[in-house]
Amino acid sequence: MSARKDGGPMELGESIRNPGFKEAADGGSASSVSGSERRRSSAVKLDADADAQEYTQVKPYAGMPKEVLLLHSSKARYRVPREILFWLIVCCTLALVAVTITIIAMSPPCLRWWQITPVYQVYPRSFRDSDGDGVGDLKGIKEKLDHFLDLNIKAVWISPFYRSPMKDFGYDVEDFRDIDPLFGNMKDFEELLAEMHNKGLRLIMDFIPNHTSDRHRWFNLSRTRDPHYEDYYVWTDCDPASPKPNNWVSIFGNSSWTYDEVRGQCYLHQFLKEQPDLNLRNPDVVQEIKDLIIFWLEKGVDGFRMDAVKHMLEAAHLRDEPQVDPDLPPELVTTEWDLYHDYTTSQVGLHDMLREFRAEMDTYSREPGRYRFMVTESYDYEEVEKTMMYYGTPLVKESDFPFNFYLLDLPHNTSGWWAKHLVDLWMSNMPRGQWPNWVVGNHDRSRIGSSAGRIYVRAINLMLLTLPGTPTTYYGEEIGMENINITQSEVQDPAGKYNVSLSRDPERSPMQWNDEMNAGFNSITNITWLPVHPDYEKVNVEVQMQDKGSVLSQYRFLNALRQSELPFLRGWFCYVLADTDVFSYLRELDGHKEAYLVVINFGKASTTTDLSAIQELPEQLSVLMSTNPANDGKVFQKSRVQTEPGEGLVIRYSTYTRFHPSHPAECYVSEKACYLETIGILYKC
Ligand code: GLC
Ligand code: MG
Repeated sequence: MSARKDGGPMELGESIRNPGFKEAADGGSASSVSGSERRRSSAVKLDADADAQEYTQVKPYAGMPKEVLLLHSSKARYRVPREILFWLIVCCTLALVAVTITIIAMSPPCLRWWQITPVYQVYPRSFRDSDGDGVGDLKGIKEKLDHFLDLNIKAVWISPFYRSPMKDFGYDVEDFRDIDPLFGNMKDFEELLAEMHNKGLRLIMDFIPNHTSDRHRWFNLSRTRDPHYEDYYVWTDCDPASPKPNNWVSIFGNSSWTYDEVRGQCYLHQFLKEQPDLNLRNPDVVQEIKDLIIFWLEKGVDGFRMDAVKHMLEAAHLRDEPQVDPDLPPELVTTEWDLYHDYTTSQVGLHDMLREFRAEMDTYSREPGRYRFMVTESYDYEEVEKTMMYYGTPLVKESDFPFNFYLLDLPHNTSGWWAKHLVDLWMSNMPRGQWPNWVVGNHDRSRIGSSAGRIYVRAINLMLLTLPGTPTTYYGEEIGMENINITQSEVQDPAGKYNVSLSRDPERSPMQWNDEMNAGFNSITNITWLPVHPDYEKVNVEVQMQDKGSVLSQYRFLNALRQSELPFLRGWFCYVLADTDVFSYLRELDGHKEAYLVVINFGKASTTTDLSAIQELPEQLSVLMSTNPANDGKVFQKSRVQTEPGEGLVIRYSTYTRFHPSHPAECYVSEKACYLETIGILYKC
């Protein structure tokens, strides 16, 4: 350090002019520095010249020049604490980094929004009619958003509201970028979405990649052979007098081919003839679909329910499909059940395409809290492994989950072992680490309260909300709505036009809000597009909100329990027992003292269940909640747990003895986690 090199003399001169320096030289404030220190500082060797000598005399003072500062800072009494502090900071930083890395490495991934909340399905025609035309609309949904908050539901899937001729009530889309005037306009949509986001709700759109309406612009351009659109749909030559290029049938019955006079060819429609199938083997069509997905993602929607995905591709060779009954005369092959759908569903390439859609969505999922969700709709019936494909692979994601429709089969045999069989169909086939989900109703299937029987409604909701994974609730299930009766003359659904028993109208009746006119669905005029169920005076939201023992109150209680108690969201699910009447399972989490036993009587008789063989359960079982409110708080000996038909019990018990270690084959968990009760955190274990 050379004062001269740094222009020392000049700085020294400046210092002399500095009053602080003078003060120090005059023995001012610096005079408090002890003589021994002065000696020590003078011992510091700087330069041999006179200027440097002068520096050694100075004492610290405010505004001192760098050289003076450096001179003092190298003294032990400044240096040592400084070094101690330095190493302390280094050590603390390293310790902090280590702790952070350990915590990150030990923490199980956070659950995503679609795992925490149930998904609620709104059928927009039937939810709430704000303008009195008899059909529900977007403004109507907006008026009712607090209902979701009351239920503690944060994800809402709304069936299609795109511009549509409504041949299949919106599943026949004329313009994917527009809202049907029946439901409102784009501004209404944007307001609805903004309001939902304000309230912390997520909006899941219905998306229909398989087909459009025959009124869609693309179809008109395709039938007139516009060069770009010529191959947008599946066309083939056929005989106009007998337009059946092969034996393929529509899901709604009869041939899936219709002759188009304009083009002079047949087009394929796996649903109504007004719903021509897109040709997704054409890359331009796939790009159009991606653009549409992006259009809605840009608008801010939180996810998509992908409609009828298994139908997206068909075999290009157009060969006949094999008949289920080879002896059936071909002209009698008219329904989906008459054929094995080797060439019209689940074709190779389908999953690649969905994974491409998923990848588009992922590019919009990167901002924190903006994960875009995808659920696929595919009824694969006994071919459950086909459904599981929609989960993707550990390396390539597809949907977050495919809808699990197996519980819709519960009415087929209401019994404990059948319920377990249906639950296990999913659990034992689902790829490791994936997230289950449960559907007990939708706009295509009879309401479970009608098909299984009213007495099971509460028990089914209880099961839905205590199984592992995401529950799906079709509007009205939270109050136990049932099907309406529809006569042939009242049929609206095209699927029921020829056979009333196939109509989906019964499960689409207006939502029952209160006991006023039209059950509060439409409070302006007396028009409703389908009749209101006559039970609306008792079965409605307003009445059930007041009643602590109602289906609605029980739904709210169970959903709150599910979201607040870690064993339900993060814990193990283990089968305990299944017999003719009872299905029983438990939910537990390592390190979490409270565990839950669920006992549901799906049978037809009152029964006493003996659970004494289950050592992990305490001797006395106390009922936290029963679907029969009179039994709340009841205490059973574990050898004598009594239930009535349709009764479900949630039993809470305290123990650190876990059931799953000794019953690995009976237990399942998506992502193993343990709970550290002392500090209330979860860790990987
Ligand atoms: C899906 C819908 C159904 C519709 C069909 C054709 O299955 O859920 O309502 O009719 O697709 O789009
Ligand atoms: Mg198709």
